[in-house]
This record gives sequence, structure tokens and C-alpha cells, in this order.
Amino acid sequence: MAHPDGNRADDKAVSIVIDGRQVNARAGETLLQAAERIGVTIPTLCHDERLAPTGACRMCLVESSDSRRMVPACRHPVVDGLVVQTETERVARHRRGLLSLYAADVDVVPGTELQAHIRRYGLDPGLPAANAPRAGRPDDDNRYVLFQPESCIVCARCTRYCDEIEAVSAITLAHRGSQTTIATVDDVSLLDSTCELCGGCIDTCPTGALVERKSAHRQATFPALKPVRTTCNYCGVGCQFDLQVDAAANEVVRVTSPAPGETTNDGNLCVKGRFAYGFIGHPERLTTPLIRDEAGELVATDWDTALDRAAALLQKTAARHGANSLGFISSSRCTNEENYLVQKLSRAAFGTNNCHQCAAT
Ligand code: SF4
Ligand code: SF4
Ligand code: FES
Repeated sequence: MAHPDGNRADDKAVSIVIDGRQVNARAGETLLQAAERIGVTIPTLCHDERLAPTGACRMCLVESSDSRRMVPACRHPVVDGLVVQTETERVARHRRGLLSLYAADVDVVPGTELQAHIRRYGLDPGLPAANAPRAGRPDDDNRYVLFQPESCIVCARCTRYCDEIEAVSAITLAHRGSQTTIATVDDVSLLDSTCELCGGCIDTCPTGALVERKSAHRQATFPALKPVRTTCNYCGVGCQFDLQVDAAANEVVRVTSPAPGETTNDGNLCVKGRFAYGFIGHPERLTTPLIRDEAGELVATDWDTALDRAAALLQKTAARHGANSLGFISSSRCTNEENYLVQKLSRAAFGTNNCHQCAAT
């Protein structure tokens, strides 16, 4: 992670004390990073380790010996000899007060970071809903990303993700004061903006204000879904994600990205991996090979029969018209090994270079 001030962290070792425990840290690290390494969990809301810290939400304030005021652990650099306390009565009082304000201001969505903090500090999770929701974009006609302004705490994780990770700056903070909200430039639909529909803003949102439109009506049930880790089969990159499955209905309800650092895609996905999972349970999905019968109609068959038929017809065509009358097209949804075998079949078995697969595009 970048140094809070944007400088490159050096490797100078420093020693600090967190909650009475000696911690070795590197100059340039933040208090939050040093605390995480020894298993001390400081609550955060606007923090995402992939993004430059802003210290916007004040959730992570702790007591530090270099300041009379409490400091944000997510952007306060370690300094040799610091003594830090993360859970004093003063800190807890601040967090309860802050969470009370958030809870009074927004609709708290089950299963979110915000709700977890509210539970941790013993506030009533059933606090009354917000009575003055922020402005929103109810008319946005995109089918994928839904913004629910009544649950937004304006932490700007989504806009910073869009800017710093996705690098398209499709969304931004708009308006001022209590009217501050998330919007596109000129308030156009996401579809008319630079948005690439990666859905990363949904994953990073700590309050559920951003959600996949298709599954939004089931948001209250998200905590009960079963995550199934799998590898995307749309291209050769091999991103991993979690299918969130309603086990009782055997249905994929949505796709979420693993936490940053857990998989090679580092918590990021593209539009296909994120939203194009409808084929999994589609009623017209092919589940068996098909061959044409004598009347030309497609009929279901077994793999041996289908492969024998394909081999016989390929051989017949090559014998009649030559190997270059054939073309082999495989798919980026196959593994590298499978694609290798298809080109082997094409070149070695039939003697033609007419082979291609769409991951090459
Ligand atoms: S879906 Fe991706 S590109 Fe679109 S607004 Fe969200 S983060 Fe930005
Ligand atoms: S939509 Fe979510 S991530 Fe974006 S500012 Fe609001 S609470 Fe933060
Ligand atoms: S997480 Fe540190 S200020 Fe928001």
C-alpha cells in the first residue's frame, strides 16, 4: 500500500507499542497496518487497502502519544517510540457517537461493514430509518449497478475505486454538505458515462448503498448465502470470485470478488465475470451433446456417439476437399491445456493451421 502522503515507504525499522504490545514496523506504514499485523482489528469504513487513504469517515480514530487529539489509524504513519491505544473508553465513546449518527442518517443494510460495527459497539441495529435521504438517480436505466442513496455514508470508496483502480472516473462526489451524493458527470446514466460496469464499486461499498440491481430485492438475505469460490471461465486471465448461492433453491444470487490480496485478480473483476452468470441456471443451457438425426433435427446423445460422429465427418471432409477445407475454433472458456489440444488436433492430426480461439483477440 502507498504511504499516506504518497511517498514511497522506506524500510527503516521502527518500534511502537499498540495496546501494550511491542510491534516492529517499517517507517511509512500506517498505524492500521501495524495493528493488523498483530491481530488488532481497528474498525474502518472509508478504508480500502488498495486505495490512497483519505481519513474521511473517522471510524478508525485511536489515541496516539504524538497527538492530543485522536488520530485516524488508516493514515497516521508509525513513528519510532509511539504508544497507541485502540480501544480506550474515549475511543469507544467516539465510535458509539459516530455510529449513532450514521445509523440515524442512513438505512442500515444487513451483512455490511456498517452493520457489523454497529453490532460491535452495542447500538440498536433496528434504529429508525433515515428520514431525509440523499439525492439519487432513480431514473438510471442501467441494468447492473443500483445506487441506494438512503444507505450511503459518502465515504467515497466507490468513487476512489473507480478513479484509482478502474481508472475511468465514471462516478464522483456531487453537491455539498448534507446534499453530497454519488453521481456521474452531468448526471447521465452509467451506460452513457465512462463506466465499464466492473462492479468494483459494489464490492468496496461498506454500507450496501451500491448493489447489483438484479439481486437488490434479496439484499436482506445476502448474509445467509453460501459463497462458492470458483474461477471465471470467460477468458484466459483466470480471475477468481465467489458465487453467492442460495443453497435451498440451488441458485446463484450474485457474484462477489474475494478480498484484495486473496487471489491474483486482487478483488477486481470485469463485467462478464461480475454480472454474466445467468447462464448457470438458464433453462435452455445445454447439458448433453446434440447430433442431427436423418431428418436434420438436433437430438440429445452421449459423448462417445457425438465424438465418433464428429471424427467421421471431419475425416470424410478432409479426404474429399483437403485438410485446409477444415477450420478448428475453440474457446477462451476452455483451459490453456484444452486449447493446446485443439491446435494439436488441427495441426498434427489433420495437417492444417486453420485454428483459432477467442482469447487471442
Ligand atoms: S461499475 Fe466500475 S467503472 Fe462503473 S462506476 Fe462502478 S467502479 Fe466505476
Ligand atoms: S455508495 Fe457506498 S462506497 Fe460510495 S460513498 Fe456511498 S457508502 Fe461509500
Ligand atoms: S477508515 Fe480511517 S478515517 Fe475512515
